Amino acid sequence: MKDIRTDFPILAANPKLVYLDSACTSLKPSKVIEAEMAYYRELGACGGRSSHRLGRKTNEKMDEARRTVASFVGGESEGLVWTKNTTEALNLIANAFDFSKKKKVVTTIMEHHAVLLPFMKLRDGGKITLEIVPCDAQGEVSMDAWEGAVDEETALVVTNSSTNTTGRKAELRRIASLAHDNGALICVDGAQGVPHHKTDMKKDGYDFLCFSGHKMLGPTGIGVMIARKEHLKNLKEFMVGGGTVSTVTCGEAKYMNDHTRFEAGIQDYAGMTGLSAACQYLKGLGMDEVERHEKALADAMLKELRNAGATVYGPESIEKSAIYSFNLRNAKAHDVALMLDKMDIAVRSGFFCAQPAMEAMGAHDGAVRVSGYVYNTLDDMKKFGEALAKVKALY
Ligand code: ALA
Repeated sequence: MKDIRTDFPILAANPKLVYLDSACTSLKPSKVIEAEMAYYRELGACGGRSSHRLGRKTNEKMDEARRTVASFVGGESEGLVWTKNTTEALNLIANAFDFSKKKKVVTTIMEHHAVLLPFMKLRDGGKITLEIVPCDAQGEVSMDAWEGAVDEETALVVTNSSTNTTGRKAELRRIASLAHDNGALICVDGAQGVPHHKTDMKKDGYDFLCFSGHKMLGPTGIGVMIARKEHLKNLKEFMVGGGTVSTVTCGEAKYMNDHTRFEAGIQDYAGMTGLSAACQYLKGLGMDEVERHEKALADAMLKELRNAGATVYGPESIEKSAIYSFNLRNAKAHDVALMLDKMDIAVRSGFFCAQPAMEAMGAHDGAVRVSGYVYNTLDDMKKFGEALAKVKALY
């Protein structure tokens, strides 16, 4: 991939910075920042409400963003609901899904807390039963384990398309078929998958897909829950308020039948246009090219980690994005991250909001995570390796 660092104002202003924390949040290219600012400069109005020209123009921008973002993941724009982030999208599914006929939800121990907690809360309130499929010591969830958990009692399967701890790409087509063969639906946490892998929710058979703008070069504060459109009518209202109703009396509210039923209150119009610009930017790079680039970054990362004698979590020879979690000898993860920061390498340390996953892979005190994206280069990996060698020398 061509060097695109100059498209990113933070990298242009900090030529020494090696940003390897994109799994937490990605940097934003100028095109995204400009698109977001254009809303405030040129429109600044409400969408879906006001009939004056700025309101109408805002509606057009919203519709355009809805189409662009839905098409980026192979989804239907009529099924797209704007949310704040993946967490809100997953909470929406947990609270809006109809568990009146079947109550069993199946997920895995490799999930982010944003998947586990909303469903654990429903379980603890007696609303559902929850089966959490275990992984092996490398964080792999086998198809046998999936097949042992998903049965005809299952209402919903919820799982990631790529983990935020190992970058492991899930075998979603097989998991989706398993869910459907058992009369269940599948909700995919695409927070880490959509930014890094070509996603086609129709082809792969997802019923619901949740993701965030900020991990895919877009702004913070905007996310998506996109459903196959026939499923929207079966979801109950979650957050309600202005924009979600057709008529209201003090005795009764009649809710809308489409995506607007779930979009309560004034929305993040600037965020939508920013996310749409991010999808266009990634489309311009080509998601096949993004995958190829990340594979090269991942290989180089692993080489540097092996040179440093790091303990690396997760399976090694797999289809994955450029993410590795690791520990270095007896060094505390936070200390390693702070030392790397002193050498201009930005990484994250801790449990990455996936404590059960990290514990299952033996990282009981957390780990350091290095995560690359489209703006990273092989030279960045070399700098990361050199810095790691200096940290290692201290232990
Ligand atoms: N989910 C984000 C991460 O993995 C915050 O770091």
